[in-house]
Amino acid sequence: MKNLSNKTAIITGSARGIGKDIAKKFSENAANVVIVDIIQDEINKTVKSLKKFNPNVIGIKCDITSENEVQNLVENVIEKFGSIDILVNNAGITKDKLLIRMKLSDWESVLKVNLTGTFICTQKVAKIMMKQRHGKILNISSVVGITGNAGQSNYSASKGGIIAFTKSIAKELAPRNINVNAIAPGFIETEMTEKLPAEIQQKYLESIPLNKFGKPHDIAELALFLCDNNSDYITGQTIVIDGGMI
Ligand code: NAI
Repeated sequence: MKNLSNKTAIITGSARGIGKDIAKKFSENAANVVIVDIIQDEINKTVKSLKKFNPNVIGIKCDITSENEVQNLVENVIEKFGSIDILVNNAGITKDKLLIRMKLSDWESVLKVNLTGTFICTQKVAKIMMKQRHGKILNISSVVGITGNAGQSNYSASKGGIIAFTKSIAKELAPRNINVNAIAPGFIETEMTEKLPAEIQQKYLESIPLNKFGKPHDIAELALFLCDNNSDYITGQTIVIDGGMI
């Protein structure tokens, strides 16, 4: 039997990047997979490519900062698959600026997507999981949520917030048999990191003992472990996966 047979997983921000690889890994492991994103074209492409592994992959356009849209998402998934067993809060954005130059809107939009969006999805899905008396919630944080990073005060605050949120929710939901964990990736090659200037990328590379950037599939392997039954006794943890960087 595959690891995620009969499980339904919602993965936010999964039309591309790390989320897409997590969705691929889960589809290969026989889950019903719901691709959630705001870019319809990318959703369509990703769903088409993943249906090769598994017919039970669907895409739903949803902005995770909208309570109404997330409520509709949850209702649609329950109608289609009957349960929600896994939530991966992966959608995230950056708006990097030094503190002195950061506009309030840069601060607010990053906190809204990365932290408030994670709260909204977790709250709506937790209601279902609490009734089911089981579930796995996985939040994608970042190493900069632990170390901080110049030019990323908004992003680091949102990712540090995710770690604290993970610990709190793990305590609240444990009595209902729901595990809540986080992954803190280092530098992973995706469209988010591609837009960084070459000299910044080189600086990051020099700080990584394994001397290479991570790939989305590195995160997907750990995500599978933290969302299948092999990790049933792990909760409230943040696991760093960064080639030794921090
Ligand atoms: P990406 O930019 O390639 O993918 C993020 C996806 O989230 C995009 O498809 C985007 O459309 C979607 N999204 C953005 N706002 C949304 C919203 N309001 N509602 C629904 N979907 C939305 O980024 P990447 O690199 O794949 O990152 C995925 C996660 O991993 C993010 O949370 C990021 O902060 C985190 N991360 C990434 C690292 C890296 O080196 N790439 C390092 C550490 C953490």
